[in-house]
Amino acid sequence: MKAAVIHGFGGPEVFRYEDVKQPEVGPGEVIVKVAACGINRYDLYLRMGAVSTDIAFPHVMGADISGTIAAVANDVDNWRVEDKVIVAPGYPIDPTDWDVRPENKAPSFEVTGTHGWGGNAEYIRVPARFVLADDCGLEATQTAAMPLVLMTAVHAVATLGEVSAGQKVLVQAGASGSGIACVQMAKALGADVATTVGSDEKLAFVRSAGADLAINYNRAAPADMILDWTDGVGVDVVIDMVGASVFASNLKALRVGGILVNFGLVGGFETTLNIRDLFFKQHQIRGSFMGSMDELRTGLGMLRDGKIRAFVDRTYPVSDVAEAHRYIDSRAVRGKVVLVP
Ligand SMILES: NC(=O)c1ccc[n+]([C@@H]2O[C@H](COP(=O)([O-])OP(=O)(O)OC[C@H]3O[C@@H](n4cnc5c(N)ncnc54)[C@H](OP(=O)(O)O)[C@@H]3O)[C@@H](O)[C@H]2O)c1
Repeated sequence: MKAAVIHGFGGPEVFRYEDVKQPEVGPGEVIVKVAACGINRYDLYLRMGAVSTDIAFPHVMGADISGTIAAVANDVDNWRVEDKVIVAPGYPIDPTDWDVRPENKAPSFEVTGTHGWGGNAEYIRVPARFVLADDCGLEATQTAAMPLVLMTAVHAVATLGEVSAGQKVLVQAGASGSGIACVQMAKALGADVATTVGSDEKLAFVRSAGADLAINYNRAAPADMILDWTDGVGVDVVIDMVGASVFASNLKALRVGGILVNFGLVGGFETTLNIRDLFFKQHQIRGSFMGSMDELRTGLGMLRDGKIRAFVDRTYPVSDVAEAHRYIDSRAVRGKVVLVP
């Protein structure tokens, strides 16, 4: 089969589009024919060697897969060839962890395509238990844009952020792949949502996804805008995937007793924390990584029911994956970029 392969870490130029051995089904597994594979910024970090240096080469990445079942192991009875499916974007890779709940707390839980081969290829081999029926009724490219960010948004916004109707929420980087899912998740839970973007071109985009207040942080200080918006009180919840560069501003924008959920680090990962402010303001700071299979099912149900939309900015053939990574790195992307084999 054809795949986008890396033979070492580096920039987008390390990708080679080449022939590799097609995976064969093993006990308890299925082979999925990939119809589309979404890209996440995680893939850029993985390619650079910033996730793990313990990757065996050649390697094929790609976590967000929609497709059809192409082969089923003899001991698997719940899937048939041609079934439309979604591959879980993360699961415990060690079978001894398979009964851990929630799955994302298992020691061997990782993003799909990290150590095992992912979906930047024509076929992928997956444990049958980590495949879900695709009943979203969308184009494969739209479905493939969503599993990882939906799982993340349910976990970060609903479970850890405890967002509820009537609350005010700040979502950082609202035009990012994960941000646009979190904006929609908070809106679906009944909150008023403010979000930040880095250019005027992205303002209309985040408003189209439901944002009530869209802030270009190059024109106005987000924390001041938020304090204005909340009559000086601050938001109930901040959902952040930018990290160090906005940490102080996030806490300034957060009300007494508010919750800050962080799940990303595009703006750096080391910062300082004023502990006196932390306890006087009774802030809750919570770290979030991916989510459980139940949270993924909840998110996919919201996608199927039209409560959350897939925003696909561009699609590329898998052979152009390097160009797709460059586009994401440019920060121009609005929503998601998806590869098609
Ligand atoms: N823990 C988890 O479960 C989880 C799940 C999903 C994503 N993540 C993490 O969340 C982060 C975002 O991922 P994503 O896939 O949503 O990213 P993305 O679609 O590539 O969007 C990232 C956006 O962040 C904004 N940004 C702000 N400061 C930046 C900086 N210093 N450098 C680059 N971009 C900056 C940019 O938008 P503006 O120019 O408009 O500011 C950029 O377009 C990553 O760290 C990723 O690993 C974590």
